Amino acid sequence: MEETQTKRAIHRIGVLTSGGDAPGMNAAVRAVVRTAVGRGIECVGIRRGWNGLINSDFIHMDAGSVSHIIDKGGTMLYTARSEEFMEEAGRARALATCKLLGLDGIVAVGGDGTFRGALALSRQAAQSGQALQVVGIPATIDNDIGCSHYTIGFDTACNTAIECIDKLRDTMQSHERCSVVEVMGRHAGYLALYVGISVGATAVLIPEREVDFEQDIAEKIRRARLSGTTHYMVVVAEGAGSAVEIGKRIHQEIGIDPRVTVLGHIQRGGSPSARDRETASRMGYHAVMALTEGRGNRVIAIRDGQIADLEMEEALSMTKSFEMDRYEVLEALSRSGPGQM
Ligand code: F6P
Repeated sequence: MEETQTKRAIHRIGVLTSGGDAPGMNAAVRAVVRTAVGRGIECVGIRRGWNGLINSDFIHMDAGSVSHIIDKGGTMLYTARSEEFMEEAGRARALATCKLLGLDGIVAVGGDGTFRGALALSRQAAQSGQALQVVGIPATIDNDIGCSHYTIGFDTACNTAIECIDKLRDTMQSHERCSVVEVMGRHAGYLALYVGISVGATAVLIPEREVDFEQDIAEKIRRARLSGTTHYMVVVAEGAGSAVEIGKRIHQEIGIDPRVTVLGHIQRGGSPSARDRETASRMGYHAVMALTEGRGNRVIAIRDGQIADLEMEEALSMTKSFEMDRYEVLEALSRSGPGQM
């Protein structure tokens, strides 16, 4: 881990959650607060994302204030996507709050947009001679942050979607129907792919791969039907197309009458899985350690299963290649035999 900042004492930090919520955000907040308090650093919870800094919407936090949240979905600090913070004037108001509160650092739990905001804030602070270090913790159910192989919330969202689809499968099997299920993922197909493999989907559509209806859906359903399967599961990432439209096309072109389910925001809720609690706890701990050790403007990522503490600008420029090998696994395993999925 390279040292990019001059080490200076950290007395008080803020923690916030921003962007779409993800199960495990509470565990990250808890870890930040407990690690900070344990090192004699005061902690302020900034509510409603960056808007909380703009509007001076905060709470003082101590070790007890984060009791019994590790198992809770959502975020006790609330979250928002702040338009105002994208503007210099909004960030100036946020910096005024930081000054008022005497914040030396901020830990921001969220996605790429959250980190871009954090970096802009830190730079604007430096220009006005204000010392403010920021550290980002990747959290989104989409798992689509370039610098991190894993983001908080992804595992829980996969499990939630799998549980729903397993239930759908019971009724699809009984009625010998086709189910088209839309899962979240506006720009990324990680959720659809992992879920598709895990439920034994007939077909999975992801934004990373151009959809050819005939080859990717029709042929797969026909092949499954020929091999004796009487129910089919098509999983669609929201960024790959509308499940409703795909359902209509299946009806028109294959002559079966599918049932369409859009799982929607249910995927963002629920008690975080062991993986999300544990990852969030480690990330929260390392975020505070980075600040106390003089490493500001960092993202605490997971790379090859290990915590990696990356320079924020570099982290924001990183991309990760989509795991197409998993798509091949899905294709190989969806060639079902009689009665199987
Ligand atoms: O947080 C990511 C995500 O859940 C995407 O998968 C989805 O497209 C989007 O957020 C939905 O956002 P909103 O909650 O604003 O509808």
